[in-house]
Parts: sequence; C-alpha cells; structure tokens
Amino acid sequence: MSKKVIDSVDVDRLLAIAEKWGTPTYVYVEDMIRDRCRKLVNLFSGLPVSWLYAVKANDNPFLLEIISEEQLGFDTVSYEEVLLCRKLGVPAENIFYTENNMTDEEMHGAAREGVVLNFGSLGRLRSYCEQYPGSSCSVRIKPDISDGHHAKVDTGNEDSKFGIRMDLLPEAVALARQHDVSITGIHAHIGSGITEPENLLNEIDILLHAAKGVDSLKFINFGGGLPIPYRSGEEEFALDQFASLAKERLETFLEESGGGISFLFEPGRWIVGPAGVLLTRVNTVKDQGRKKFLGTDTGFNHLLRPALYDSWHEIVNISAAKTAKEEKYNVAGNICESGDILGTDRIMPETRTGDCLAILDAGAYGMTMASHYNRRALPAEILITTKGFHKVIRRRSSADETVDRFLKETGYPVDA
Ligand code: LLP
Repeated sequence: MSKKVIDSVDVDRLLAIAEKWGTPTYVYVEDMIRDRCRKLVNLFSGLPVSWLYAVKANDNPFLLEIISEEQLGFDTVSYEEVLLCRKLGVPAENIFYTENNMTDEEMHGAAREGVVLNFGSLGRLRSYCEQYPGSSCSVRIKPDISDGHHAKVDTGNEDSKFGIRMDLLPEAVALARQHDVSITGIHAHIGSGITEPENLLNEIDILLHAAKGVDSLKFINFGGGLPIPYRSGEEEFALDQFASLAKERLETFLEESGGGISFLFEPGRWIVGPAGVLLTRVNTVKDQGRKKFLGTDTGFNHLLRPALYDSWHEIVNISAAKTAKEEKYNVAGNICESGDILGTDRIMPETRTGDCLAILDAGAYGMTMASHYNRRALPAEILITTKGFHKVIRRRSSADETVDRFLKETGYPVDA
C-alpha cells in the first residue's frame, strides 16, 4: 500500500496531462483510491466494522462517488458537507455529521436531512434534546489521548476544543434520557496523522469501556487519523498489525456485551492522500549563491500543508533525466510571502525553466484547503480513470473568470 502516484503512473502520462491541461493541476488515480478503500473494507472481515470517508480530506464529487461505490459512508463536519453528500444521492443513514459550533439553522437542516448527528458540547446536545424529543443522536467525547502529526491537528486531549469531557458522559446520558432521546453512538477522534498505533488502540479501549455506561448504544465510532508515509523511506503505518490487535479487543467487547453494536472508523488522508499529486511548472530558476530557488506556478494557496504544519511532501522533477547532475534547491511558490516555500534543501536533478514538478501525496488536504489568496485561480483537477482515460473533474478558471466571479460575489458594480 506504500505505492505513490509516481510508482503507479508513467511519468510520460503525467507530463502529457501537464501539457494538455496546463499547471498547476491536481492529478488523482482512481485505481489507487479503489484499492485503498477495498483494503479497509476487508480489514476486519467477520466483524461489524464500517468505514466512513472524512469528506474534508478531498471533497471532489467524482472522488466521493468512487468512494461511495466502494461501500464507504461519509464523515462530515459541516452542514455544507452534509448537503454535498446528500446532493450526490448518498442515503442519510450513511452520513455521520460531527458538529463543530453548530448553529440552530444547521441543526434543523441536518435533522431534516435525517443524517446521524454527533454532538460535541452539552449545550448543543441539550438544545437538540429539547427540540427533538424521542429521537436519537451520538456524542463526541474526549478520551484524553491525543496524537496527530502536528500540535494543530491533535484533538483528543482534555483541553481540546472538540468533544465532551469523558467524566461528563453520564450527564449527557441523563440529559438525553430526560427528553426520551437515545444516545445510539459514541465517538472520538484523537488526531490526524497518528504517530503511534498504540494511542489508537488505547483510545479504542477507552471507548469500549465508556460504552458500558450507555445502554441505548448501537455504534462506537473510533474516528480517523490513519497516517501515510510522506518521506521516502518512511515506514508505513502497520495497518494489518493494528487491525489484528484491534480485532481482539472488539471481539472481546462483543462477547461480553452480547453483540448488537457496530464499529466505525473515519479516515480521510489514508484513502486519498497517496493517490494524488500536484503538478506544477518551474517558471523561475534563481541562483543566489548560497541558495538556489525554483520558482513555481503554485504556492501555499494551493497546497497549504508545508506552510501551515511544516509538512514534508516529496517533490520530483518529472521532466529532467534521472541521470542529470544533482543540485540542492528551495522550491518556492508564487505567493507574496516569504513563508511560501514548498520544499527546502531538496536534492534534485538540475532543473530548468519549464520543467514540470510533481508534488507527491497531495491527494488529501490539498485542494480542499486551497484558497484564492493573491486573487489567484485554483488548480484544475484530473482523474486518471480505471479505464485509463483522463477525466477533467474540475476545470481551471482563467484569470479573467476568477476576477469576474470575485467582483460578482462582492456585488461591486462593474460596467459590462
Ligand atoms: N474525523 C474527524 C472528527 C476529524 O476531525 C478528522 C480530521 C478526520 C476524521 C480525518 O482525519 P484523517 O484520517 O484524514 O487524518 N489539514 C490537516 C488535517 C486536518 C484534519 C482535521 N480532522 C493536514 O493537512 O494534515
């Protein structure tokens, strides 16, 4: 499963895509996404485990369609994500909506849609119970275990803004009971890009234990966070080993509790991250003596991860011959901030203006975190389909269209 796009797709094909549709362009590989979904769906065979895809990782509707065809449901975190899934025809019961400072309007909208609502605060739970007596919902708790690839994506500790403190779970249960609301699910998510499988196993133990205090329970959702290796040579998360350790725990729980409860996980990155690259062209090569810069036609407005979390993405020059002499480069974006660096001190073949670079493992949290900063247009998105076609799944807007759309949205009067 450690294959990256660059191992699965011929470089000439990527170059042809860059040539035909221009850059910057995100390219995704359908087969890789399907394989990764299947790996998960088969991981716990024999146990009532289901998988939800965390829509925030990449919400392109064509990718959501593929993932839905592979029998995954969807984990959503905004009313907009709920609506997106519903408009794609996803049945409400396959949509799990973890609220985050939800408004009344969003709550009523989601309840109308019939999706599974997951509450992360007692106040919001109270207002739901008062307004929807006799219904059911899930609650998000803080297991006080936190593990993510960066402090900004650690979520399970007691001081996190997410979820209800573990010791307040009985209060949540009592509150729901008062209004004849069944708490059918408990949920936690310890962080994104988990570094120690042990932490996820401990979280599972904690939730299985907590489940014993909730008698109306139908499911336990252990969250997402499965990591992927970003650096070449980095070890992969030992998924099979994790699954066999988790399986023991789940089996014991089912035996002791008499069954009737199913389990959920909701990864995003693991499914789409390795299946995407961002293609960009070098438009400036600048030798400043101590530093050599490759200036590209993309930046942190299109791939925020390096600037926001100091994340590492491998960058491969797909135009240069592998045998070319090597140089050390800083790969820079075209955004007017000095922090707009996509890679520092990268050893790459000698690079020329016009060369095409592939930024690897950009399928998750790339396009969904892209913005129009510096008023720039967004990248295009291309899917390499199972049949080998190149399907445009988001076309690039021209500079003119981008500016016109902006002016239109502001309502600023511009003469036709
Ligand atoms: N479930 C919940 C409640 C979450 O908050 C998240 C991610 C996930 C599932 C999916 O996590 P995953 O399996 O993708 O790690 N922008 C950051 C990641 C932020 C993740 C936020 N929540 C990044 O680029 O690394």
